[in-house]
Amino acid sequence: MGCRPPGLLFLTSLLHISYTIDTVRLTIEPRNAVQTGTAVRLRCQVSVSHSNIPNLIHSFQLTRDDVPIYTNNTTEDTVEYKINPARAADSGNYECRVSVKNKAKASNSQKLDVKGLQTPTLHLTTSSPYENEEFKATCSAPEEKGPLIFQFYQSFRTGSPEVIKQLSQGGNSSTATLRLSHIGNCILYCDYEIRLVSGNQKSNSSKKVELIVKALHITPIINILPSNNLSEGDIIEVVCRVVNPPSNTEVFLTKDKVILKQVRAAALSHKFTVREDDSGELVCKAEWGSVQKETSQRITVRSLFSKPQLTVEPTDIVEGDPFNLTCSVSILDSSKINNETLQYSIFKDNTEVANTATYVTVAQLSASGNYTCNATSDSLTRTIVKESQKQFVKVKVPVSEPVLSVVGGTLFLGKPFQLSCYSQRGTLPINYTLNQPNKPNDIKVVSKRGEKAIFNLTSITQISDIKNILCHAKNSQLKLPTTGTGEQLLKSSNIIEPVSKPHLTTEPRMEDISEGYNMTLVCSVQRGSFPINFTWYSQEKGFLDSKTSRKLKESHSISNVKGDHAGGYFCECTNPAAEPKQSAPIIIGVKMAGWKKGLIAVFCLLFVMAIILFLFYKKRLPKLKKRRTGTLSVKAASTKVERMSLTQAEVNEAANVCSFHCVAESDDNCSTNTLEKPENQYKEDQLRQADPSRGERLFLNFNKLSFDFLKLSLKYYICSMSVPVKQGTDTVHSEVRNSQQGTTNILLFTQTPFLLHSQEKSGH
Ligand SMILES: *[C@@H]1O[C@H](CO)[C@@H](O)[C@H](O)[C@H]1NC(C)=O
Ligand SMILES: *[C@@H]1O[C@H](CO)[C@@H](O)[C@H](O)[C@H]1NC(C)=O
Ligand SMILES: *[C@@H]1O[C@H](CO)[C@@H](O)[C@H](O)[C@H]1NC(C)=O
Ligand SMILES: *[C@@H]1O[C@H](CO)[C@@H](O)[C@H](O)[C@H]1NC(C)=O
Ligand SMILES: *[C@@H]1O[C@H](CO)[C@@H](O)[C@H](O)[C@H]1NC(C)=O
Ligand SMILES: *[C@@H]1O[C@H](CO)[C@@H](O)[C@H](O)[C@H]1NC(C)=O
Ligand SMILES: *[C@@H]1O[C@H](CO)[C@@H](O)[C@H](O)[C@H]1NC(C)=O
Ligand SMILES: *[C@@H]1O[C@H](CO)[C@@H](O)[C@H](O)[C@H]1NC(C)=O
Ligand SMILES: *[C@@H]1O[C@H](CO)[C@@H](O)[C@H](O)[C@H]1NC(C)=O
Ligand SMILES: *[C@@H]1O[C@H](CO)[C@@H](O)[C@H](O)[C@H]1NC(C)=O
Ligand SMILES: *[C@@H]1O[C@H](CO)[C@@H](O)[C@H](O)[C@H]1NC(C)=O
Ligand SMILES: *[C@@H]1O[C@H](CO)[C@@H](O)[C@H](O)[C@H]1NC(C)=O
Repeated sequence: MGCRPPGLLFLTSLLHISYTIDTVRLTIEPRNAVQTGTAVRLRCQVSVSHSNIPNLIHSFQLTRDDVPIYTNNTTEDTVEYKINPARAADSGNYECRVSVKNKAKASNSQKLDVKGLQTPTLHLTTSSPYENEEFKATCSAPEEKGPLIFQFYQSFRTGSPEVIKQLSQGGNSSTATLRLSHIGNCILYCDYEIRLVSGNQKSNSSKKVELIVKALHITPIINILPSNNLSEGDIIEVVCRVVNPPSNTEVFLTKDKVILKQVRAAALSHKFTVREDDSGELVCKAEWGSVQKETSQRITVRSLFSKPQLTVEPTDIVEGDPFNLTCSVSILDSSKINNETLQYSIFKDNTEVANTATYVTVAQLSASGNYTCNATSDSLTRTIVKESQKQFVKVKVPVSEPVLSVVGGTLFLGKPFQLSCYSQRGTLPINYTLNQPNKPNDIKVVSKRGEKAIFNLTSITQISDIKNILCHAKNSQLKLPTTGTGEQLLKSSNIIEPVSKPHLTTEPRMEDISEGYNMTLVCSVQRGSFPINFTWYSQEKGFLDSKTSRKLKESHSISNVKGDHAGGYFCECTNPAAEPKQSAPIIIGVKMAGWKKGLIAVFCLLFVMAIILFLFYKKRLPKLKKRRTGTLSVKAASTKVERMSLTQAEVNEAANVCSFHCVAESDDNCSTNTLEKPENQYKEDQLRQADPSRGERLFLNFNKLSFDFLKLSLKYYICSMSVPVKQGTDTVHSEVRNSQQGTTNILLFTQTPFLLHSQEKSGH
């Protein structure tokens, strides 16, 4: 219980340390304001009260204008900082700051003012420089602490001094490079400035130094011989000279910034042959140290003859063609040289091919290259050679006959397609022109090796149009184009022509199709690429058959035709062009079998006999009537006659029905009608299932007479008999309407074929 941990003991002893900084005092000795060079001491004294702490360390820090300049950690309570000698740069506000453990205190601020600046000294490397000669001037104040800003002044006897240089090299002296151009006496001196927080201070000026600037006579003299006016090929001598130069003088001869000659001497001489482009300034220049003097003179050089010109004819050269190269000079100074003495050479790729003015050759492919020519004027005094501009000659490979082909290989007539035209040989670029009849020409310029000209063509519908396509290839202005024709396409390409509209016919002829016989449906097209797929359809039953064939015509047979084969038929054709086409439908009627007709003929015979019987009785009847009284007339008959007074519409309709039957059965005249009114097509079955309003119908064809029976009611039939009357080429078969020409008998029968009444109708 009475035991304490040792850490707590230590903490207790720490708590007993106590101290306080009472004062910090800064003093400057001997005074705050001193003359430059004085030894100055700064003393800082601290007073600390503490609880008897041994070896208490005081950290002193001395600052000038808040910049630390001195620190000392000591147990002493006073430190001293000496400035000896004090200079203007030491001026400023000083402060002393003392820290003890973690407490600090600053002194009051003390201002030190150091008066006076050292007078600078000026030193020159020469006292008599040449005009513009460079020399050095050093201005220094070795006792001062830097950095100092120095100024160099020049003054003449009259006029105010002027600053010729101002610089600060960071220390207490500076060296300037000076160059004086004013010849004669002048004075140089310098001073400096020091920058302090309290403001700038300027020193007194240095001692004035007098110096003499000497003139430098090195301006050269230029001399051109024989003269400044020259002809090309003339030799001239240029002399540059400097009179009495100082040693180490250099002399140059330059032209257009090119040094022609250079000597380290008083004079130079340069001899050379002028060319026609040598006209211009010749410059002589003398250089001594950094001093330069120059003189120039202009020379003009006349041309004796112009540059030769190399002409190539023709400009467009095709392999195998002759071509001419001609070298000529257009302007000539005939007073100096003779036209005839000019010699020409022609070069191909720098190798001479002719030493004449013209070179005629046949263009091989190897003749391509860069040609130049030289014209040479050779005389005793001079030789002038002039070279022409380069002429590039390209010998073209003639274009071979172009090959046409269909892009993709297959051409569907009537659809747009792309045609390529390509010449295997021929220098590029090649112009391909596509020529189609009645269409504007299409031009494609091909400049890449192996590239084909591709043309878009729209809808060619006939093979004959393909043959007339032309493709012209041309790579030279002078040569005729080579031509490829569309004929090639017929061989090289797969041309697919869509099928034309098919036509469906029957065998035997449609009117001759009868029960029990065979019928063949023949489908044919006019045009179309093989193979052609023929498909037959019945309008009632749909698909019948399909055949693929390499013929324009295919047939589908139906054996043993029955009544129910009657109806509409059509066929459809297609081929790889995939544009199926359908024929117009045909309507097929099927004639009754012969035995059925025979049976009807027997009936008919009976009717005819009945007619004859009737006619016979008709003759006798009036006599009988006379013998009998009027009441004896057959009442039933008279009522039936009244019944026969049908409304005109009924008659017409009956007649129509009748006549239609006639038409349907009339082999010679009714075929078109048959097609037009297929819904009324005769069918035996329909004979008995006819619309009751129209009555049941029965038809007879006996010799040249046609009989048509229409059952009007249970008891009565209406019947028409037509007698074909030739009227031109027409046969009158619409009896009721055309009764002026024919005669229509409307016969009235009882259900049993017994004649009741006959009314002869004329007109309507
Ligand atoms: C004095 O002590 C301080 C820390 O108390 C230290 O930062 C400084 O460098 C010391 N100065 C010298 C001169 O030892
Ligand atoms: C620090 O101050 C003491 C006492 O004034 C002095 O003896 C000592 O030389 C000083 N040290 C430095 C580094 O100035
Ligand atoms: C310049 O010189 C004069 C007298 O020679 C002196 O009184 C003066 O203090 C000097 N000026 C400076 C800035 O030193
Ligand atoms: C003056 O400058 C020189 C060279 O930079 C240097 O050695 C010298 O100590 C400087 N004088 C003073 C007083 O700083
Ligand atoms: C080439 O020159 C010859 C004679 O010099 C001339 O007959 C011929 O026409 C010229 N040919 C051409 C293409 O100029
Ligand atoms: C040089 O002479 C030829 C005939 O010999 C003539 O055709 C040509 O024009 C003359 N050239 C000049 C530049 O006079
Ligand atoms: C011809 O000169 C042209 C440059 O002017 C150069 O590009 C070409 O290669 C030369 N042709 C030949 C065959 O030397
Ligand atoms: C053609 O003349 C030119 C100067 O114009 C020259 O440099 C060149 O060597 C001459 N060519 C030949 C093959 O002499
Ligand atoms: C030719 O047709 C192709 C596509 O079929 C098309 O990309 C192209 O632009 C057409 N060219 C021209 C010149 O009409
Ligand atoms: C080729 O066609 C272009 C432009 O249509 C034309 O400028 C050029 O002269 C033609 N080139 C030839 C050899 O016909
Ligand atoms: C013909 O065409 C029809 C209908 O497109 C098709 O059903 C039939 O298979 C084709 N026949 C042949 C032999 O390609
Ligand atoms: C009908 O065709 C069949 C074969 O399909 C044939 O045997 C028959 O003889 C043909 N009949 C007539 C009348 O041509």
